[in-house]
Amino acid sequence: MNQKKSKRIGILTSGGDCAGLNAAIRAVVHSATHKGWEVIGLIDGTACLLGEEPDVRTLTPAEFDGTVMRMGGTILGTTNKGDPFHFPMPDGTFKDRSGEIINNCKKLGLDCIIGIGGDGSHAILRRFAQQGGVPMVGIPKTIDNDIGETETSIGFDTAVSVATEALDRLQPTAASHDRVMILEVMGRDAGHIALAAGIAGGADVILIPEIKYSIEHIAAKIKKVKTKGRNFALVVVSEAVKTADDKPYMVTHTDGQKRYGGIGNYFSEEISKATGFEARVTVLGHVQRGSPPTYNDRLLATAFGVKAVELVEQGKFDRMVAWKNREIVDVAIEDAIAAYQEVDPDSTMVKTARGMGISFGDKPTD
Ligand code: F6P
Repeated sequence: MNQKKSKRIGILTSGGDCAGLNAAIRAVVHSATHKGWEVIGLIDGTACLLGEEPDVRTLTPAEFDGTVMRMGGTILGTTNKGDPFHFPMPDGTFKDRSGEIINNCKKLGLDCIIGIGGDGSHAILRRFAQQGGVPMVGIPKTIDNDIGETETSIGFDTAVSVATEALDRLQPTAASHDRVMILEVMGRDAGHIALAAGIAGGADVILIPEIKYSIEHIAAKIKKVKTKGRNFALVVVSEAVKTADDKPYMVTHTDGQKRYGGIGNYFSEEISKATGFEARVTVLGHVQRGSPPTYNDRLLATAFGVKAVELVEQGKFDRMVAWKNREIVDVAIEDAIAAYQEVDPDSTMVKTARGMGISFGDKPTD
């Protein structure tokens, strides 16, 4: 076994940023350096490996001794567009640029890559490894918490905390003005953030893509809240929830990328119409990604980083570190990507919400 041989590990963050990435990078750098290995930071994910001169820098424990671990974002930069296997070129065509990445990994003398990303990034890095690039170990991160084979991912806890705090701040103003406050949260196609924050933040209605609602049931719940003597109501809606006639709310950005956004405004109008109550919307957006990481995210990121280095030492590649039953384990990346994790309508958390009288808009109010 080559366990004592010095190694050169590349590390990158890929996909949307979230809180806890820097804590994970720090853990990898500390742990690998302790073994006498070198860690090379790849700037802006795989984007830095396109072209002639890779944009990289050696990472040392010293630069992580101060503020970095406490900061949101990623000191390495990241990107959530430009799939190198289908890269958009300036002339509007698409090109497979994976060869450039594989060549640059070899040029840099990397023994492996530790990739911190979501399911899309894991799939891309895995393809590089299979096509002759360097082997990889994955660390799951996403505020959406939709990666399979792990109970949680870096960034989710912080996003839920931020959304919960938003409800804490919306409640007094809702009560002061007799209003229905609608909080739209991120999560892409999974309703985990809305569900968790809705319970923790005392919502009356939680709307998630996994549970079909009717405006009638939502309106009945809000009216009931009011007839029972409370002058405000809180509604949390996940960005991917569709309109009653099944249309997603999307925003097309200047670069042509489509993203969810704005469904809260639809519910504001519909709820006002159906109940006669005044409603206001807050679209929380990227605030959920930018906060300093919670202690949970720092712990998870640190444990994931240390475990990832351990896997490299053992030569266990094509694996993703994961959190299961109070343990850090490793799972096949293939399985993690295949087992997309949406909210299970029969899960403990959905039952908890129902037990608290929270409506998902799918049933008549008791
Ligand atoms: O996947 C993370 C996420 O924040 C989603 O919840 C959201 O839909 C999307 O990324 C936003 O992407 P962007 O940063 O490109 O606006």
